Amino acid sequence: MHEAIGGYRARDIELVAAFDVARNKVGVDVTEALVALPNNTIRFADVPRLGVSVQRGPTLDGLGRYLRQMVRESEAEAVPVARVLRERGAEILISYLPVGAEKATRWYAEQCLEAGCAFINCIPVFIASDPLWARRFESEGLPVLGDDIKSQLGATILHRTLVTLFESRGIRVERTYQLNFGGNADFANMLERERLESKKLSKTRAVTSQLEGALPEDCVHVGPSDHVPWLADRKLAHIRVEGTGFGGVPLTCELKLEVWDSPNSAGVVIDAVRCAKLALDRGIGGAIAGPSAYFMKSPPVQYSDEEARHRTEAFIRAEREGDEGMGFNRPCRASRI
Ligand SMILES: NC(=O)c1ccc[n+]([C@@H]2O[C@H](COP(=O)([O-])OP(=O)(O)OC[C@H]3O[C@@H](n4cnc5c(N)ncnc54)[C@H](O)[C@@H]3O)[C@@H](O)[C@H]2O)c1
Repeated sequence: MHEAIGGYRARDIELVAAFDVARNKVGVDVTEALVALPNNTIRFADVPRLGVSVQRGPTLDGLGRYLRQMVRESEAEAVPVARVLRERGAEILISYLPVGAEKATRWYAEQCLEAGCAFINCIPVFIASDPLWARRFESEGLPVLGDDIKSQLGATILHRTLVTLFESRGIRVERTYQLNFGGNADFANMLERERLESKKLSKTRAVTSQLEGALPEDCVHVGPSDHVPWLADRKLAHIRVEGTGFGGVPLTCELKLEVWDSPNSAGVVIDAVRCAKLALDRGIGGAIAGPSAYFMKSPPVQYSDEEARHRTEAFIRAEREGDEGMGFNRPCRASRI
């Protein structure tokens, strides 16, 4: 969404370490792991070898029932992740753990605190949006952005825009659903409904937070619905909104979106990384509210998409008005602005 952020371009991002638990990914160059099964996304660039091998992280609750059918667990011993991060000079850790990896997410968040790394939590486990975790990052002077990354143009932003449009035209939203399905490992993992609790909550709140009045719980259904292997990394979303307009007369809108799932989130995380770096440069710790609201489905503070965008642009320009909302919860070092 931004070519440059505070002077940083995509090419300024240097990958120094990577962690996984899959046998076919651990021990190989990260560029080979990128295309190792069950990864099945579109290839839009040839990536030269980086000379960075994927290292073994502890599995904890990372592999659920369905992922275990697709991923053979590495027999290697887990490395001391915090030490590796420190030794490699990592500044930011990004987590794309599978949905439902509650323990593993908390474990990696601890490694960040120990290693002095910022954390970008792309999955629906509440860290940046949990005041206790946000405070821990703040007291270490480390930024945290989260939780649950949005796509560049995905079902969440489309659904939010649609219900906002209904409201702005005086149409009362009565009922809505968003059914998602796709063919990647994420959708296979999400067949395990017990792992889905926070994902459903995160996706549902991302939509209902945009409505002025509350909708009864049984009138909203937002969540992943099925796994269709031949779709590969394509994801389809069916969105339906039912409302009533003037005179209480019913009105319905339906739309369908088809995207390649992974590049769609990569286009956002590449901005989140550079916002985390700006926060580090400026000595800002804790949850970075504006960019989190723009990039994530479950941020510490939900804003409208327009407001979140405005706050993110202001954050990038290092403007200080509305300090709290933009995550300026510590004084900036003037020399770095
Ligand atoms: N558009 C998107 O791609 C998008 C958008 C929003 C959120 N997400 C979230 O990102 C996450 C990852 O999605 P994905 O499609 O890349 O899934 P994936 O299953 O392809 O990748 C998850 C990887 O994590 C590894 N893993 C499991 N446990 C681990 C552990 N303890 N330590 C290190 N690695 C571990 C797995 O081996 C696998 O390689 C999901 O939670 C998904 O909901 C993705």
